[in-house]
Amino acid sequence: MVEPNDNIGNDTMADDGNPAYGFAENNNTMRKRSTDSIPIGLKIGSTRTVLVMPNYEGSLDIVRTLTCVAKYRDLFTGKLATKFGDEAAEEYADSVYFMFRAGLPQDDDSVKLAAQFIEYLVYKYNIPENSYVTLAHPAVENDRGRKNLKEIISGMSIGRAGRQAWSEAFCGAIPAFDGLDAIKKTFMSVNMGSTTLEMSVFRNGEPVHTVTLGTISGNIVDRKIRLGVQNETQGIVNIDLNTARKYKEEFANFIDYKPVYDSVHIHDKGQYGFKIEKSIMKPVEEYVNNVVEAIMENFFPQLAQDHYQTYKRVLSEPIILTGGMACIPGLKERIQQLLSDELEQKVTVISSDRPDLAPAIGAYRISEYTLQYRE
Ligand SMILES: Nc1ncnc2c1ncn2[C@@H]1O[C@H](COP(=O)(O)OP(=O)(O)OP(=O)(O)O)[C@@H](O)[C@H]1O
Ligand SMILES: [Mg+2]
Repeated sequence: MVEPNDNIGNDTMADDGNPAYGFAENNNTMRKRSTDSIPIGLKIGSTRTVLVMPNYEGSLDIVRTLTCVAKYRDLFTGKLATKFGDEAAEEYADSVYFMFRAGLPQDDDSVKLAAQFIEYLVYKYNIPENSYVTLAHPAVENDRGRKNLKEIISGMSIGRAGRQAWSEAFCGAIPAFDGLDAIKKTFMSVNMGSTTLEMSVFRNGEPVHTVTLGTISGNIVDRKIRLGVQNETQGIVNIDLNTARKYKEEFANFIDYKPVYDSVHIHDKGQYGFKIEKSIMKPVEEYVNNVVEAIMENFFPQLAQDHYQTYKRVLSEPIILTGGMACIPGLKERIQQLLSDELEQKVTVISSDRPDLAPAIGAYRISEYTLQYRE
């Protein structure tokens, strides 16, 4: 029986340094390596799933795919068939279903889909059964979600050597510290995802206070960018949400934003060139202001009321940013500045090099440590 774990103990942690990693889009580089158990880190986000495992060269393979499924009718068999991941999103953009969009699955069908999705990853990327799997998951809001998470984890065909689950906000903070130091510390982590903003304080690995908001998210920024481009081009250019997300990921930048030039073919007008001056950074700036407001108004007051000493401590330690939105250049400096101004004291805000991959890398480190510790 697998317990989604709240704590893996307070023993001395191995300092595993900062391994180099490569990206793998297929299973060519991923084969069973030896008879030893393989440590695996798996982050299943509402939008993106990230898988981390070691390769032959002694570095890490990292796979990113969309957390989605599409059902279609197979013309030969006449039966309903299923496609997952990027492939599903590309071929069935109109009907693709993101099974974790609203957090952890709440109904039996979504639990089944989530389990099938994991088995698809196991098959496609050849994840060995003889592995130790740590799953980084979205915030668990209620008992139903907790029960479903347990069911998904215990049903996996991988993780024969062991399995555990930790929140994404916690796993994402691990690479920002040395080794597994996060497990011995009290700190605040802000996970900036596509569907939610998750703010948590952890003490020795246990969540002390957590607030999750669906009103501040990467997806909302994308929607505003789409509307902005329409307005900035006097209604001539209509981009879809996927393009808006790509503009944000490629061009949003607090340090050095340059206007974006693009062109589309428009019926009657031919090729139409346009310039985007404000429509990317305005929503991103609003997002950052909303994040700071949420920390100041929705998070700190309750934390200070319930755990005053912890609140004081959190302000003297670095605050960690994780999740894809934290990749925007200059965003953490901006949040640090705004928070310091609001609090009238200097706070430090840090993140790892790749905050979007950090939860999966952190999960991988937990697996790796657990295996080493057992030996
Ligand atoms: N380089 C980047 N620059 C800007 N935004 C990025 C970048 N990479 C990812 N994002 C954005 O981050 C968000 C995805 O973050 P992440 O992968 O942490 O979310 P998730 O875990 O799938 O979702 P959630 O945490 O809501 O469950 C999306 O809005 C995406 O566009
Ligand atoms: Mg996430």
